[in-house]
Amino acid sequence: MKACSKPSIPHHWSNFYTVDAFRKSGRQMVDQLADYLLDSQGRKGDRVLPYSSPKERLNHWQSKLEKKGSGAEDALWKPGFVEEVVAQSNRLHDPRYAGHQVAVPLPQLAWLQAATALLNNGMAIDEMGPASSPMEEAVMRELANFMGLGADSGGILCHGGTLANLTALLAARQRKATGNAWRDGSDRKCAVLVSEQAHYCVDRAVRVMGWGAAGTVKVGTLDNHQIDPHALQKAYEQSIDAGMEVIAVVGNACTTSTGTFDDLEVLAAFAAEKGLWFHVDGAHGAAQIFSERNRAPLKGMKRADSVAMDFHKMLGVPALCTGLFYRNGTDAYAAFSQEAAYLYENEQEEWWNLSKRTFECTKRMLSVSVFGIWEAHGHKLWESLVDRLVDRAQTAARVVEQRPGWEVFARPESNILCFRLKGSDNAALRHAMLQHGPHYIVKTVLDGETWLRCTFQNPLTEDSDIEALIDRLEELNATLA
Ligand SMILES: Cc1ncc(COP(=O)(O)O)c(C=O)c1O
Repeated sequence: MKACSKPSIPHHWSNFYTVDAFRKSGRQMVDQLADYLLDSQGRKGDRVLPYSSPKERLNHWQSKLEKKGSGAEDALWKPGFVEEVVAQSNRLHDPRYAGHQVAVPLPQLAWLQAATALLNNGMAIDEMGPASSPMEEAVMRELANFMGLGADSGGILCHGGTLANLTALLAARQRKATGNAWRDGSDRKCAVLVSEQAHYCVDRAVRVMGWGAAGTVKVGTLDNHQIDPHALQKAYEQSIDAGMEVIAVVGNACTTSTGTFDDLEVLAAFAAEKGLWFHVDGAHGAAQIFSERNRAPLKGMKRADSVAMDFHKMLGVPALCTGLFYRNGTDAYAAFSQEAAYLYENEQEEWWNLSKRTFECTKRMLSVSVFGIWEAHGHKLWESLVDRLVDRAQTAARVVEQRPGWEVFARPESNILCFRLKGSDNAALRHAMLQHGPHYIVKTVLDGETWLRCTFQNPLTEDSDIEALIDRLEELNATLA
């Protein structure tokens, strides 16, 4: 049977491979998504997040499943399905979005994602990524160089900062810990030094490696949440005294809650002196390397052994897309050293078989977006995006500081701002915004107290949106009393 012939049997697979159905649905989709963009960018909705309880939403979608099975002959979804998903989703493209640190994707990248979804080259080995594997190798070498990691540097793309941090620490273990844990396993008590403000995924990676809660040595911070160098030295000595083998120090660039950058120069010197692996968790802020104006907090990053950087945070790329860079590109092979006769012909370092360096076997063709942007624009597009986002946070800080009764946690060095209305119940205030909108912001707890938190991800956020956000918070606060 030809894939394009139409059998009379409904729900038959061959109906869904027709080029006509593909073309028709694609055209519809373009219009639907363009309308979503138009509405969102125009602030047309009465709120960014359509708020209701998780239970209500589950009931809604469960009830739809009760009526399943009556799809059109050549469509994979029922009429109205995409509109409903759009209507019920958090609308990141609305300039009033200033919530969690997920990119507001550059819209045209949706089409590159669509192209790679259709091609679906699996990337594990060269033959399953004849275009996307060398694209990845080429662009990662260039980016690593741009970051100042040196002539021997390189890297891989993977699905998320969490996975990148785990992968970096696996490489660190192989390079620094006594023995060969990958081959023989290990019951040694190893430890990683990291600030108490680190993202939880660092601790999770340590536990995955079998070192338990004690394996993450949480180092105290200064008032601004930067790692305290004295506490670092003390934590190191105490760990050694406790019989632990310290293998790595992890720097935050920047912290998730407050956008604080550790002093990476201090950490690099410390790691060099003690012979430790130096990893930079730059999932959020390493992207600032592309900006002349905003790269100063990354001083010292070029001395790292490894750096994680999410393209799906400040760089406008749809999730998930993370770069893991190594100063010595061959360190990437230390993380995994796997026999897989059905995939590889030998145990050599082969850049073209990317799964030798990634946790994933199959992965999306992640390089296409990164390569596409880099080839067309070099660092300039990312520089302008980063500058705009950081500027939004700095503008918001100025607006907040000028209003009586408000305070900021710290002047932002990134696109993250923590602030609060003094003497008010900021948790309740945030909840009121969540319920009633129209803006979408989040919160965090610092030293036991709730602060409002914005990550300015949308470059279309105007000064007037920021003023309107604070006006609205003041209005909501009045209703709380
Ligand atoms: C500093 C930091 N590291 C790691 C992560 C985890 O990254 P991902 O969500 O891409 O797994 C985050 C996420 O926000 C982060 O802020």
